[in-house]
Amino acid sequence: MDDDRFRLLVQGVLDYGIFMLDTEGRVASWNAGAERIEGYAAEEIIGRHFSVFYPAEDVAAGKPVRELEIAVAEGRLEDEGWRLRKDGTRFWADVVITALYDERGELRGFGKVTRDVTERRAAEAALRESEERFRLLVQSVQDYAIFMLDTGGCIASWNAGAERIKGYAAEEIIGRHFSVFYPAEDVAAGKPVRELEIAVAEGRLEDEGWRLRKDGTRFWANVVITALYDEQGRLHGFGKVTRDMTERRNAEQALRERRRLVGHLVEAQEVERRRIAWDVHDESIQSMVAVGMRLQLLASRLPEPHASAVSGLDESVSAAIGRLRGLVSRLRPPELDRHGLVEAVSAYVEEVAGRWGLAHSVQDDLTAEPSPEAAITVYRICQEALSNVHRHARATRVAVSLSTVDNGTLVRITDDGIGTAGGDAGAGHFGLVEMHERAEAAHGWLSVRSAPGEGTAVEFWLPLLPDVPELEP
Ligand SMILES: Nc1ncnc2c1ncn2[C@@H]1O[C@H](COP(=O)(O)OP(=O)(O)OP(=O)(O)O)[C@@H](O)[C@H]1O
Ligand SMILES: [Mg+2]
Repeated sequence: MDDDRFRLLVQGVLDYGIFMLDTEGRVASWNAGAERIEGYAAEEIIGRHFSVFYPAEDVAAGKPVRELEIAVAEGRLEDEGWRLRKDGTRFWADVVITALYDERGELRGFGKVTRDVTERRAAEAALRESEERFRLLVQSVQDYAIFMLDTGGCIASWNAGAERIKGYAAEEIIGRHFSVFYPAEDVAAGKPVRELEIAVAEGRLEDEGWRLRKDGTRFWANVVITALYDEQGRLHGFGKVTRDMTERRNAEQALRERRRLVGHLVEAQEVERRRIAWDVHDESIQSMVAVGMRLQLLASRLPEPHASAVSGLDESVSAAIGRLRGLVSRLRPPELDRHGLVEAVSAYVEEVAGRWGLAHSVQDDLTAEPSPEAAITVYRICQEALSNVHRHARATRVAVSLSTVDNGTLVRITDDGIGTAGGDAGAGHFGLVEMHERAEAAHGWLSVRSAPGEGTAVEFWLPLLPDVPELEP
């Protein structure tokens, strides 16, 4: 390229201020970029000393002159710092000064390339600030232990939550290997190292288990380890987030235990009811039937008025048998054993709603028959819900629907009554409590929805298969 074209190129560049200084540091040439960045036109600045670009304090400290000296001594000099525009405003400049020599090796002056990097600097500062804020956030989090491990598993950072949960202060623990958090048997089994290997292989690892506090006590931890990579894709270390789940675990265990107990109770109650039902059926009813037959026989042989008196006795016995049969079927609905759930519920609704003068319907959308235990639970909850409709709702109709949803049996009992007041019915009211407990003991749920004047909907769901019992660690 000849000199002219080269000169044109340099002059046209807008993004860089490119200009020459003579050996004394006076501006000897100027380009469009320099005019744009520094604000001087060529004729205003050529011949002036380049220290006009420096803030007063830098000039007082001799910085412009020193920069030329360094450029002479070392060939070039690079600097970042504040510079002044013509209007006195500052910009953050990236400056390179190069010493220029002629063929004979004599210093001819300096080339100077200046870039305005104010925006880049602002962006970097913003990034630094947001990183700083993020660091503060992480450090102050109390509920989670959040810390870093280096590639070898030694602790590299620590936060307030880690101190709270594990009991170590930052200065006690940083630099130590994270296997100190694991019980001896886990360390012996190589678990800490294996967890890091899995995190590397799969990106992350989640684990629940016992961990040690500084004082040697154990807590039940939920742990997530994430492998951290730098921009070049090299493993940089690990992020570790640990939660103390001891309380939640205790609460879950208490709940499981409660369910187990309620389950036993409900089962014992059913067994007892069945036994009483059988006893009443096999002994009381059978012998009363026999008594009835004898009375009929006797009446046919006796003269009046004795025959009528004995017939009257026979009628009383029959009425008593009818009431006992009703008791037996409430204790142990025979339809449940013989015909299945829908028939049993239908028969019950038919009987009681008819007696109470309620319009009624039973909708059957079951596609799977629930287990005998679940069927009993459904039946009992329906009984209790219907008795509530009768006693409290002042309804004109009641509807029961059964369907198979989500691998379970969903049952809805709705009335068009006054609605429940909501909240706790208080002492001496066990119906709703028992309904909830029965549903939960069967690993399902129950909810009561009601708005004043809009009736009540009791809805519950029981799984078709009881949960697989959770493994105890
Ligand atoms: N279908 C309903 N319509 C209107 N109110 C209802 C209905 N079901 C329940 N309630 C209200 O909710 C309260 C609590 O019901 P729950 O079955 O727990 O107790 P209870 O029926 O009063 O007594 P218990 O069932 O122990 O004999 C009832 O007292 C009643 O006020
Ligand atoms: Mg009740």
